[in-house]
Amino acid sequence: MKVAIIGTGYVGLPTGVGLAELGHTVICIDRESSKIEKLRQGKITLYEEGLEELFHKNLAKGTISFTMSMEEGIRGADLVMIAVGTPPHPVTKEADMQYVYAAATELADFLDGYTVVATKSTVPVGTGDVIESLINKKNRNAQFDVVSLPEFLREGYAVHDFFNPDRIIAGANTTKAKELIDLLYSPMPSKPKILFVQRRSAETIKYASNAFLAIKIHYINEMADFCEKVGANIEEVADGMGLDSRIGNKFLVPGPGYGGSCFPKDTKAMAFMAKVNEVEMSLIETAIAGNEFRQKNLAHHIIKEISHIETPIVAVLGLTFKSGTDDCRESPAITMVEELLERDIRIQAFDPKGIKGAKELLGNRIEYAGSIENALYNAHAVLIATEWEEFKNISIKTIEANMQGKWIFDYRNLLDKDSLINAGFKYVGLGR
Ligand code: UGA
Repeated sequence: MKVAIIGTGYVGLPTGVGLAELGHTVICIDRESSKIEKLRQGKITLYEEGLEELFHKNLAKGTISFTMSMEEGIRGADLVMIAVGTPPHPVTKEADMQYVYAAATELADFLDGYTVVATKSTVPVGTGDVIESLINKKNRNAQFDVVSLPEFLREGYAVHDFFNPDRIIAGANTTKAKELIDLLYSPMPSKPKILFVQRRSAETIKYASNAFLAIKIHYINEMADFCEKVGANIEEVADGMGLDSRIGNKFLVPGPGYGGSCFPKDTKAMAFMAKVNEVEMSLIETAIAGNEFRQKNLAHHIIKEISHIETPIVAVLGLTFKSGTDDCRESPAITMVEELLERDIRIQAFDPKGIKGAKELLGNRIEYAGSIENALYNAHAVLIATEWEEFKNISIKTIEANMQGKWIFDYRNLLDKDSLINAGFKYVGLGR
């Protein structure tokens, strides 16, 4: 099957590579010439565990190719996926649909034969109808169906999640479209369940899932605060809760708040849609406000504890919004750094993958260290903001040998609290 994918970001590229690996012929379309040039030359444009190897393999086989030309990409495609960004509007926070609509309008002229146009981007409910009418307006003869095919890949695990999805949701209203979606995923070794639903339901499932997970994280974060006050341990509490299969043991890890390009954006877009439709969604509203407050509040805790130091230096370990990715968008680490910078605190930061992304957001306002040791050097306090594996193994010796201060703000609960306290450190974790 020939599949065209519009957009080569964190959704489009892993999906394209995955579909090529399944045996489809994939062509990825992007407007950014520098990106397409790099990809053509075999240079991967984003970090995802296991992606580079599959990308090279399929590029060499010729099962995946890249173009800037909409015509070249769309002509002869059986299925077109729209995987462009839907960033939040700066004021209303509704999803900005200009890239999706532009893609739908541009592709219309080049559809030939029956084609399924599938939306992978996270889009407001009802977008499928708009895309359908945009294509119809532009090309009256086009034979096509618009399907909502929401994406559930996690950044950092995109390759794993592509081949092992919990479910595939397809909002397809015709038998022909359903057959094509079945065919698309039929080579999947894991034989995932495809749930066919109405298009508007599929669009809603995406937002409902992300908002639910965001609320779950906010809940466990509040529970961690509670544990801290009453002398309970959040890890034990989460383990105990997670044994109930109705609750489930995932997404019960406390941290500095959820970040990334999805949860913050999608919760706000959901809240916006609820308002427009006059539906009360107080849980989502509370999670959004609570999540924003949490990041700032945790930074203020650091500021308070080190306020007596004249020129404080804080080592920040981790800048990405979570481990396993190079993405710093909406990262709680960046928000906390911004708060510390407002108080003129000197920052020495290290991240195994996120330095490039962090530089785009923080520029030269902080110092970027090449190693954990360099970040810790002479620091009065260390903030662990991302749960990278290498941070778990930092020894007390390394901390003692490099830092001048004693404060450890472990906002991912990675280190052994008791040994640090016994070694004379002032340890602050979350709910433990
Ligand atoms: C999320 C969803 O998990 C994917 O299913 C979805 O496809 C994706 O958004 C999307 O809409 O494209 P992602 O943003 O990659 O994926 O990251 P998650 O692994 O879900 O983590 C999001 C944030 O929650 C991170 O900041 C992470 O540190 C935080 N988190 C997650 C916690 O604080 N605690 C947890 O227990 C889990």
